[in-house]
Amino acid sequence: MTLDLHDFVRSIPDFPEPGINFRDITPLLSDGAAYAEATRRIAEYARGRGVNVIVGPESRGFLVGGPVAHEMGIGLVPARKPGKLPREVIQESYALEYGEAKLELHTDAIKPGDKVLITDDLLATGGTIAATINLVERLGGEVVALAFLIELNDLHGRDRLAGYDILALMNYND
Ligand code: PRP
Ligand code: MG
Repeated sequence: MTLDLHDFVRSIPDFPEPGINFRDITPLLSDGAAYAEATRRIAEYARGRGVNVIVGPESRGFLVGGPVAHEMGIGLVPARKPGKLPREVIQESYALEYGEAKLELHTDAIKPGDKVLITDDLLATGGTIAATINLVERLGGEVVALAFLIELNDLHGRDRLAGYDILALMNYND
């Protein structure tokens, strides 16, 4: 019987503020079979696209990207919040609901021609992933695939990422 990953996502109404229905992936992460199944499905999707490196945005992108990189036998490049990477970096800013956030990559982390899978836990507005895409492309990488555990359909992140190949293991409407 196929495992239904939705059974491992907990919905928390009004968190972190009224009106937000928070999708909590910690039950999925803490269940070995569910975490392995999600990892396998993303790796299978990426293998067919010639991916040779994975980029995950801090912090929950590491939780998805690390196991997939291991499963595929390829490397992981963390896109980090400012001030964390010790060598020369490039930076991208993106909008949050209140204010602005930034992500950085080491300038030598991606080589021209690399075929990159970007992974994260959640696609909401797409701001985080759009910034991560820009970082990779500025270094000459080719973003050949995007993969998420969850896509929040109503926030239309997918529209903002038109032209990119997207896998979401689960879709929610609110
Ligand atoms: C959350 C989530 C995604 C992003 C999705 O990260 O992990 O990265 O928001 O939203 P978006 O599509 O509207 O950009 P968050 O910024 O809360 O940080 P975290 O991963 O460090 O928890
Ligand atoms: Mg995140």
